[in-house]
Amino acid sequence: DLKQIALDGEPGLATYDPGFVNTASCRSSVTYIDGDAGILEYRGYPIEQLAESSTFLEVAYLLLQGELPNASELEAWTHEITYHTFVHENLKTLLQGFRYDAHPMGMLMAAVSALSTFYPEANDVKDADNRDLQIARLIAKMPTIGAFAFRHGKGQPYVYPDNELSYVENFLAMLFKMSERKYVADERLVKALDVLFILHADHEQNCSANAVRSVGSSQVDPYSALASGIGALYGPLHGGANEQVLKMLRRIGTTDNIGDFIEGVKGGKEKLMGFGHRVYKNYDPRAKIIKKAADDVFEVTGVNPLLKIALELEKIALEDEYFVKRKLYPNVDFYSGLIYEALSFPPEMFTVLFAIGRTPGWLAQWKELTTDSEQKIARPKQIYTGHRTRDFVPMAQR
Ligand code: ACO
Repeated sequence: DLKQIALDGEPGLATYDPGFVNTASCRSSVTYIDGDAGILEYRGYPIEQLAESSTFLEVAYLLLQGELPNASELEAWTHEITYHTFVHENLKTLLQGFRYDAHPMGMLMAAVSALSTFYPEANDVKDADNRDLQIARLIAKMPTIGAFAFRHGKGQPYVYPDNELSYVENFLAMLFKMSERKYVADERLVKALDVLFILHADHEQNCSANAVRSVGSSQVDPYSALASGIGALYGPLHGGANEQVLKMLRRIGTTDNIGDFIEGVKGGKEKLMGFGHRVYKNYDPRAKIIKKAADDVFEVTGVNPLLKIALELEKIALEDEYFVKRKLYPNVDFYSGLIYEALSFPPEMFTVLFAIGRTPGWLAQWKELTTDSEQKIARPKQIYTGHRTRDFVPMAQR
């Protein structure tokens, strides 16, 4: 993937590295991954410990501030997030203008970029207090916008935030509340969704973080930078694989068909979706944690019948030489779709959930970027393959 190339007419060598497979574009102290060993750490804390003992808002604080909060810091941070959950009424009007079948990711992207017009002071990215205010607003408002987009698709009235609820409870209430009565979510479901948000909170220089950094390097406001991250995540090669896993499992239909399906994959007919990763050449540590969250969710909702197929498929693949030789293991998407479906989310909402979880990571990296004195505007070189200087040809002679 990596070639050293002498650029025609330019001094020295350039690195031709499409997709930046081997090019470090920044320094970062947020997230560490060792793909061969299957290690993921936020600010040095193993993902397993954070998923087990922490909460999403605590992890968001850790990613953004670099250290775990003490009790009063967490209380102040939770208060700050809770009281920024409302959106301006005109943002609601903007969302209401979308077609009934608008994809919620398109609505989320539009609404987040529109937020920059509600908070024009966000342009001042060099002011630390101002930066922190916009960060809190974004983390707080993402679930509100995501839930509004969900209800828009169902033709249901939007449910306003209830600031007496926790971050995840509030999100579930805005999505699923159906009467005037207070919405009470099962705490096992709340915990499971909180864990899923933690698992998605950052993943160093993935496509969407790179988009946020690249756009943010122009010193634009964080709403515009995050809207580009949401755009990158929307793409099927990045945020959309869990939906494909569900389709695949449905198509396989019963465990009896797994053998034929695996033979098809080995014959190059299709991919085993939810397997393989650019960085992990070992079990994705997030997939292990998700399996446990799936058990907790199914205890409440009843088992998703596709789980049996997924478990058997994983077992067979992990013993098959084709997958062993290529170091193909389940990734985070193999089980997450099953959980989201059990939680009553339609497939088009899966990537919105990913975006809400990833918001602290995008913002931690954006903050790091804006405070890194060595960071320059993102502006890669190209290998020019077109014509050199030619004379303009008048229309009559073409
Ligand atoms: N099923 C079958 N074979 C696979 C799979 C798969 N899921 N993934 C990779 N392979 C094979 C390739 O065909 C290739 O075989 P070859 O050496 O015989 O040609 C070999 O394994 C290496 O694969 P690459 O495509 O070179 O690996 P790369 O790092 O470029 O791709 C990717 C990683 C895109 C994730 C790939 O594994 C894939 O498409 N997986 C399925 C989609 C998926 O689950 N994506 C979610 C990723 S996690 C996330 O983004 C949150």
